Order: sequence, then structure tokens, then C-alpha cells
Amino acid sequence: MYKVLILGSGGREHALAWKINQSPLCDELFIAPGNAGTELMGRNVTIDILDFAAVKELVNQHQIDYMIVGPEAPLVNGIYDYFHDHSVKVIGPSKIAAQLEGSKSFANKFMKDFNIPTAKSVDITKENIEEGYDLIDKQKGNIVLKADGLAAGKGVLILEDKAEAKRQLKAMLEGKFGAASQTVVIEEFLDGIEFSVFVATDGKDYKVLPMAKDYKRRGEGDKGLNTGGMGAISPVPFVDKKLMRKVHEDIIEPTIEGLKIMEYDYKGIIFIGLIKVKNKPYVIEYNCRLGDPETEVILPRMKSDLMELFVAMHDGTIKAQKVKKKKKTAATVMLVSGGYPEAYTKGKEIVIDSSIENSLIFHAGTKKETNKITTNGGRVIAVTSFGKNHKKAVKKSLKSINKIHFDGMQYRKDIGFDL
Ligand code: AMP
Ligand code: GLY
Repeated sequence: MYKVLILGSGGREHALAWKINQSPLCDELFIAPGNAGTELMGRNVTIDILDFAAVKELVNQHQIDYMIVGPEAPLVNGIYDYFHDHSVKVIGPSKIAAQLEGSKSFANKFMKDFNIPTAKSVDITKENIEEGYDLIDKQKGNIVLKADGLAAGKGVLILEDKAEAKRQLKAMLEGKFGAASQTVVIEEFLDGIEFSVFVATDGKDYKVLPMAKDYKRRGEGDKGLNTGGMGAISPVPFVDKKLMRKVHEDIIEPTIEGLKIMEYDYKGIIFIGLIKVKNKPYVIEYNCRLGDPETEVILPRMKSDLMELFVAMHDGTIKAQKVKKKKKTAATVMLVSGGYPEAYTKGKEIVIDSSIENSLIFHAGTKKETNKITTNGGRVIAVTSFGKNHKKAVKKSLKSINKIHFDGMQYRKDIGFDL
């Protein structure tokens, strides 16, 4: 029996807490800082999760055995290495391996070294900006500019106009995304349909979790600004056995092989963002953690014990694990604050009718006040349902959403529209 700490405060962390709470291996669950939903699954503790000394104090105080890191920032900042000699076991990659998410340039080099299909790319800094301009002139079609470092999901620009691309390249190198865009990666544009796979690894072997597809744009029909994610479905209907075999052979296996050869310590989840171009999968990005809102559909579809999988990562026995999946489709629809992803107000009272029974309600930006729950972020609640297909699952979520209310509440009714 283990004492478990989950770091984070989103819908992903509520879904993680919900799943871990069901495990016979977990006897006490803490979430830092958590939200109004995680509070029902375990004990919320308010700390700054980027303050590793504060995390250590919490870990020592409660003799935590396993620490599951939800978001990327603590991992990229090296939380795994910080606790390396400590008795707590961190679920996630080491600092160097977290660079697969923390630096696009690092990830591209890794993929080149291990023959993993991805877009062709060149790194540009202030020193070789002229080379960047030349490249832009030579590109046919869309131009992809990526800030090398973490930029809260905003660091990728896809531009049609060459003059605009050159202006943006200059602005990025001059600090548009702070230090994250001191290096800009110019990539070949890949035209296809995206999906994501989630790989649990102990650094030597791996197991694949349910796949997912998320919907990042704020508006219906994938229009409008990029968000953290407005909804997701799992599984993804166009990903058949043949395509999945290619994902295993061309992408997952060489990725794990690469980790081994480079001796990168990785005991966590690799989230691989993929794009299917003419029936061939290419990597769009690596993330070193679970996705949000993907987790809100992946974990409900997992029949097997997630905690057992996490324990196996540190025991080096992932190979012997079995990941059992529900056949049904899960869909999640995210309820967001009015104005999101631009400015929005927090503190609106949330009313959830207790008669909702056909959906799972995962809290994201919510906060418990004395006798009410209020909004505390842009993404507020993820509503997950099951169905024979994604249309039926989304329909169920929409029905449940009719029983949830807060001022300014908005959501997309068309999750899965393109499938
Ligand atoms: P990322 O932050 O790397 O996930 O990029 C954000 C989004 O930009 C992705 O989900 C894709 O929709 C798009 N994108 C990134 N790289 C490319 C590329 N090389 N070609 C086409 N689209 C891309
Ligand atoms: N939904 C995309 C992410 O978590 O990065």
C-alpha cells in the first residue's frame, strides 16, 4: 500500500486522482494544489509545485512513496533528478529526457539520430537569421515557426505569407516568447490528420495506453484561437491496426531504443503527437506527461490498474504489465469561461445538478469556497461520457452539460466533427 502525491490542478489531475483512488495499491492520496474535484478524491495541499523544496517538505511530512507529476514544467525543471536520491519515486522523465518536450531542437535532433519520421527542420538563432529568411523564401506553402522552448502551447506559428513569416521569425528571436524563442525551429509543413498515442515506459520496455485525439481550437469547425484543449475522444476511428503497427515500428520502438542508447532515465509517460500523411505516421511533437483533456478520455477507458503500471515503471517490469481497455468510445467536452483563451473573469458560482449520472465530471479550473464551488481558470470542467461511437458519446456529454451552469459558460458541441 502506498502514499501517493499528484502534482497539478487541472482536469488531467482530477482524472488521475479518480483513477488512482480506485487502486487497491493506494492507501492515501494527496493532490497539490488540486481543485474542487480532486478534493473529493484525496487531500488537497496548497503549495507551489515549482518550489521543489516545498514539495520535498510535503513529501517528507507525509512519507509519500510515489509522486505523479501532471504538468510538464516541474519535469522540464528537473523534479525527477531533484528527488533522485530520495525514497519518493517520481513518475516522469529525468531532466535530460524531459528535453524531448522542453526543447523542439533537442527533440528534432533525437528523431534525426534515431531515424524517427518527423518534419524536416532547421534551427535558427540571431546569428543565422539570414539563413532563416532564405529558408522562408524557399518554402512551398505554409511556413511553420516553433519557439524552441516551453511557451504554454503558444509557441507554434503556421503562416502562409512569407513577409509575415519573416517578421514573426525576427520578433520571436527578439523575445516574443521570452527565452523560449531565442532559438526558432523552422519546419517543413506536414499536411494530414492528427492523433496522439501515450506510451508508459520504464526506460527499457513499454505499454501503450488508449489513444486519443484532442480539439485545440476554441471555435466549432476548428476555427478560432488555440486553447489548451476543448475536448477529446478515444479511440480514434481512422487509426486502424495497420497504421498502429507503423506507429509501433517506425516511432515507438525507435524512441524507446533511443532512450536506452542515450541512457536517458525515463519512468513515465511519453505522449507522442502524431500526424498521418498519406497513411504514414510522423511525429509532430513529444510531450513528457499525459495530455489535458486527453487524460479525461484515456483513463476512463482503462480497465487495468494505473497505479500498478506506475509501480512497474520503477520496478523495471513494465514488460509484464497488461493494459486492458474498454471497447467503447469515450468523449470529453470542456466547459470554459467566457472570453477564454483571452481574458476572462474567475469566481463565478458553478451549479452542478446532482441528477447527472451518465457522465463523469472532471474539474479543471474550479475552487471550493465555504459552501459553493466557483470558477478558477479558463478551462473549468471536462464532461466525459461513453458511447458506441464518438457521436453518441458526445451527445451524452451535451445532455449532462444541460445540468451544469456558470455565468459565461461556453463549450464546443462538435467534438469529433471531422471524423
Ligand atoms: P506543437 O506545440 O508542436 O504541438 O504544435 C502545435 C500544433 O501545430 C500541432 O498540434 C499541429 O496542429 C501544428 N503543427 C506543429 N508542427 C507542424 C508541422 N510541422 N506541420 C504541420 N502542422 C504542425
Ligand atoms: N491537449 C494537449 C496537451 O495536453 O498538451
